[in-house]
Amino acid sequence: MRFSDSPNQLQFFLRERTKELTALHKTARLMQDDSRPIADLLAEVVVLLPPAWQYPEVTAARISIGGLDIKTPEFRGSPWMMSAEIQIIGGEPGSIEVVYLEERPDSVEGPFLAEERELIESLAEMLRNYLQHRLAIEEIKKANDNLERLVQERTLELSTTNAALQSQILEHERAQQEIVAYQKQLRKLAAELSLSEARDRRAIASDLHDHIGQALAFIRMKVSGFRGETVFCGFEESTSEILALLDQTIQYTRTLTFQISPPVLYELGLGASLDWLAEQFIKKHHFQVETIIPRNIGRLPEEIEVFAFRSVQEILTNAVKHAKANRVQIKLGLAANNLEITAEDDGIGFTPRQADSASIDGGFGLFSIRERLTHLGGSILIDSAPGRGARLILKIPFAPETRQQ
Ligand SMILES: Nc1ncnc2c1ncn2[C@@H]1O[C@H](COP(=O)(O)OP(=O)(O)OP(=O)(O)O)[C@@H](O)[C@H]1O
Ligand SMILES: [Mg+2]
Repeated sequence: MRFSDSPNQLQFFLRERTKELTALHKTARLMQDDSRPIADLLAEVVVLLPPAWQYPEVTAARISIGGLDIKTPEFRGSPWMMSAEIQIIGGEPGSIEVVYLEERPDSVEGPFLAEERELIESLAEMLRNYLQHRLAIEEIKKANDNLERLVQERTLELSTTNAALQSQILEHERAQQEIVAYQKQLRKLAAELSLSEARDRRAIASDLHDHIGQALAFIRMKVSGFRGETVFCGFEESTSEILALLDQTIQYTRTLTFQISPPVLYELGLGASLDWLAEQFIKKHHFQVETIIPRNIGRLPEEIEVFAFRSVQEILTNAVKHAKANRVQIKLGLAANNLEITAEDDGIGFTPRQADSASIDGGFGLFSIRERLTHLGGSILIDSAPGRGARLILKIPFAPETRQQ
């Protein structure tokens, strides 16, 4: 537009620019919506083109891009064509074409105005930006969908693994419960075994005493009865030998009877039997054994007395075998519902960790005491270290009503 232009020219100029601006404005509005299908949007844009050109009545348009070919109904090939490329990064090139279906007077670019060239380029640029933007959104959506699918797959995988783990844990817990039940049964069995062993021992000891012991005493009486007469028949020496042999056997039977099952335990109870046991150790092993036993100990349930006696016997044997002790003290303490045995020696000591569980090379004594105590609901505490002697504290519970004063 120039100042020298006539009013008519001016009017023409303004009308054309208004048409172009309308096309640009409407296209821009359409492009604000990201959600509609691209083909629908292009169909609306393509019909905005003919009215924006100088001769709308003979104008047709086409937009083609990425497999889409959208045109106004009259569009066909024409020698009067203006086009602009739409170049999308990573996509196939497309184009906008505007044609005059009939010849019109020449202008700047054939029959087309310079402003129309600018308009078509602007529209191509707008479409390029819009399509690029839509492409990016689609990529993001695709990536999102992919991610979601992966998350779902992974979640499914994890929940499968989780279910497998849960069932493994259940299995493990079941196995654990079975082991605990077995342990309980084994402890019960061991307790029953040791009680029945004590009963068997007592029966054997009684048999030894009542039958063999009595028979031997009777034989001795008989043999010594005819001893005087053997002087005359020259058997005196042999008779004396027989008598000496009988004395030895009687003594041996008595000792064996006590060893198998000390009657003192059943007849006089735990206190007296521990005193007797201490004496045996002093006599046999020549070391000091001191017992501290409360006066009011009375009688405890047989199971407890037998177990306590056998435990002290094992502890004293260990003191002889391992501790090389000079002195051992055994102290009993009685509370309302448990018996406490404290055994202390001045020997070489040991590291209890190695001793309190059964191992391939370890012994059975302390392990068995611990197991029996666990069965009875009691406990054992071993306080020792190499070079420091050893102190063992056994707590043996019993029902108070089973105690006899
Ligand atoms: N009073 C002690 N002083 C030093 N070491 C001890 C004492 N008591 C036990 N030990 C150590 O603890 C280990 C385990 O003792 P435990 O009575 O269980 O088995 P053991 O005496 O070796 O064999 P078992 O009792 O079966 O004949 C012993 O081998 C010994 O090394
Ligand atoms: Mg032992």
